[in-house]
Amino acid sequence: VVNPELDLLVLGSGVGGLSAAVRAAGPGSLRVGVLTKARLDQSATRWAQGGVAAVLGGDEDSIDLHLADTLAAGAGLCDTDAVRILVEEGPGRVSELIALGALFDRDPGGALARAREGGHSMARVLHAGGAATGAEIERALVEAVHATAAAVMEGWFALDLLVSDSGTGARCSGVRALDVDGVVHDVRARHVVLATGGAGQLYSVTTNPAQSTGDGVAMALRAGVAVADVEFMQFHPTALHHPAMPRPLLSEALRGHGALLRDADGNRFVDELSPRDVVARAMTGRMLEQGVDHLWLDATMLERFDERFPTIAASVRSVGLDPARDLLPIAPAAHYLSGGVVTDLDGATSLPGLWACAEAACTGVHGANRLASNSLLEGMVFGPRVVEAVLAGRDGPRATGAMRGVLGAEAPVGVRHLALALPPGPPAADGEVPDVAKARDELQRAMTAGAGVLRSAASLAATAPAVAPLVGLRPTGAAEAELANLATVAWALLRSAEARTESRGAHNRSDHPETSPALRHRLVLGGPG
Ligand code: SIN
Repeated sequence: VVNPELDLLVLGSGVGGLSAAVRAAGPGSLRVGVLTKARLDQSATRWAQGGVAAVLGGDEDSIDLHLADTLAAGAGLCDTDAVRILVEEGPGRVSELIALGALFDRDPGGALARAREGGHSMARVLHAGGAATGAEIERALVEAVHATAAAVMEGWFALDLLVSDSGTGARCSGVRALDVDGVVHDVRARHVVLATGGAGQLYSVTTNPAQSTGDGVAMALRAGVAVADVEFMQFHPTALHHPAMPRPLLSEALRGHGALLRDADGNRFVDELSPRDVVARAMTGRMLEQGVDHLWLDATMLERFDERFPTIAASVRSVGLDPARDLLPIAPAAHYLSGGVVTDLDGATSLPGLWACAEAACTGVHGANRLASNSLLEGMVFGPRVVEAVLAGRDGPRATGAMRGVLGAEAPVGVRHLALALPPGPPAADGEVPDVAKARDELQRAMTAGAGVLRSAASLAATAPAVAPLVGLRPTGAAEAELANLATVAWALLRSAEARTESRGAHNRSDHPETSPALRHRLVLGGPG
């Protein structure tokens, strides 16, 4: 047992977890530890390009317009209360980040520069280093956490939640984790925050780093904690079609600046500023029609490309492309898990003592499809809310936000509970997989073929046999644990995608192309009920 005295243990080191850790060191301070399987600066946050959507004072834009755009992108499944908190508290959190030292891009007059992205009715996306926004935010937060946290456990791998019952009901009391040498420890804390990010590694082609293996969502599923909306894996339309992994992203901000999408014949086929799900769906349809595996982004008309987007310019030039002359090959890539561990408006999950924020969470702000540049925003708003709630003495969930339906309260977006029925372990008695890298690759291929941008009952059913034997794997090391976590989240995704017999947001069923008003509810796995 290590660190028995921690008040708050944050798992993961993206913008949500680090924002929580920084807040915990502020007024009313808590003894906080951050446990992460890589280095603190190696989360998916670092890869986030476009920016942070936020309506700052003095804008002609309004909070209500940002709210309306977010709800429209979410295709009927957003929790309006959660979205209101997101858009209202976001600007203040941006100001705090600036005070912490994050450098956002400014126009020649010194005002914060703003870009437009798909689904936004106004230019409201703040950015840093052109399209290196996540990296700059991460830098500022990592410095602050190193200066203030009681414990930083880098290179530690959380295997499972510790759940204890002292007579008053089950409660999360820490995690079982492997240290850097592979030794198992119980790391105890009064409160645990899942800030473990998404699961883009479910697919062969993703913009996410190798660490995005759905660890927190899988731990929650194994512990019976409510998880929802996992069928809504968002595919980013414009990843560079190139073997590099993670796929280099060609930020949505390029389209916001006027870049166009062209099919194999050089024709435009979709409004480039539609929400991401609309563009990814149109692209996939066109690729199937034309029998091609990629389309084109035409940014040749953009002025000052290298100056405005230095990191993107460097990545396309490194593969021999000149954005001023060449069309850029693109294809959709798994990008963002819109669902996750269900929380109330303060980040409390269905298990007392366990909290979740950012991509690992389902706060209800994204619904069926996240609006561009609302992800960093969600982390910086909801991470600190967890700490405020803990400081206020909260322990378990309240019937607010996306948690309402889970707790059986009346909710604008209802819930349907699904039985998860995790399959048992692999047939091999010792539970070991001989070649973990090969098994991970096969899982990714199966998910890409059967549960990608387009799915059907038949494709989902055909994917299940590749996933099932890996779900109950008893890991002996971090690589196997990641594989089991991926398989667990894949299983939940398949189960939910099968039950959602409609197309909505990022979930597209070729056998059910319509949106069904009767299915305007969240599909929830685990939790009470
Ligand atoms: C992008 O820059 O296109 C990605 C930003 C996001 O995922 O919201």
